[in-house]
Amino acid sequence: MPDADLAVNCAAFTHADIAERERELCRSINATGAGNVAAACARRGIALFHLSTDYIFDGRKGAPYMEDDPSAPLNFYGISKREGEERALAAGGTVTVVRTQSLFGIHGSNFVRAILGQLEKGKVPLKVVSDQISSPTYTRHLAEALLDLASARPTPAIVHAAASGCCSWWEFAKAIVERVRPGVEVLQRNTAEMNYPALRPSYSVLDTTLLSTLIGRKLPNWREGLDAYLAEEPLAAAVRNA
Ligand SMILES: NC(=O)c1ccc[n+]([C@@H]2O[C@H](COP(=O)([O-])OP(=O)(O)OC[C@H]3O[C@@H](n4cnc5c(N)ncnc54)[C@H](OP(=O)(O)O)[C@@H]3O)[C@@H](O)[C@H]2O)c1
Repeated sequence: MPDADLAVNCAAFTHADIAERERELCRSINATGAGNVAAACARRGIALFHLSTDYIFDGRKGAPYMEDDPSAPLNFYGISKREGEERALAAGGTVTVVRTQSLFGIHGSNFVRAILGQLEKGKVPLKVVSDQISSPTYTRHLAEALLDLASARPTPAIVHAAASGCCSWWEFAKAIVERVRPGVEVLQRNTAEMNYPALRPSYSVLDTTLLSTLIGRKLPNWREGLDAYLAEEPLAAAVRNA
């Protein structure tokens, strides 16, 4: 008997810009480490969900990405995550690569908390890029979907899991502001102006039809995710009441 039914590998080197200069460390965690975890699970007979990313795509398709669309990462983080997918799938166990995107949740840093932090410090007007489109996904909604996926059959090798709907980071920031500090101006910026060390895909929406078929439902819309997150985020209440 295995000592667990399922492992979920969320560990990663996730800072895309720092990854450009910390390539060895990034690759050791996202590729070698991913393969090691998958091999350990395979030895013990433990099924594995390996978390991966929309950043394995270049964003040039102009339509939501399917699981079998060719990958073409634009930055080293994406390259390392693609290698991690390959190593996890080659480890010989029961592995599902779960690609997700633009996560926000109560633990750790995320875009929503960054916007709330700027509002709290009075750093307005906000300036946010409007030429990157994705589906911001609330981690609780993702976790609930993964629990449902754990009992779904057949077990897919790769599945896309993200919120319904899509928006730019600018639209997302506007939605945050409307909910906590209406009236604050949100200015649009182009990604090129930001001079990020890592290139980013301009349109990396994931097609989630396979997941919906497997678990019998879509993930909630990103706006529902945002409302649910703000209801449990203490900083949102602080910004509203300031
Ligand atoms: N955030 C997103 O928007 C996003 C989008 C698409 C896909 N993903 C994927 O989703 C997963 C989770 O992302 P996240 O944003 O939640 O990441 P995160 O907040 O950066 O957390 C990464 C976790 O990995 C752990 N970790 C890093 N290096 C490790 C090592 N060598 N050994 C053990 N643990 C290590 C970190 O531990 P410490 O806290 O101890 O450092 C941390 O708990 C990742 O696979 C990521 O690629 C994330």
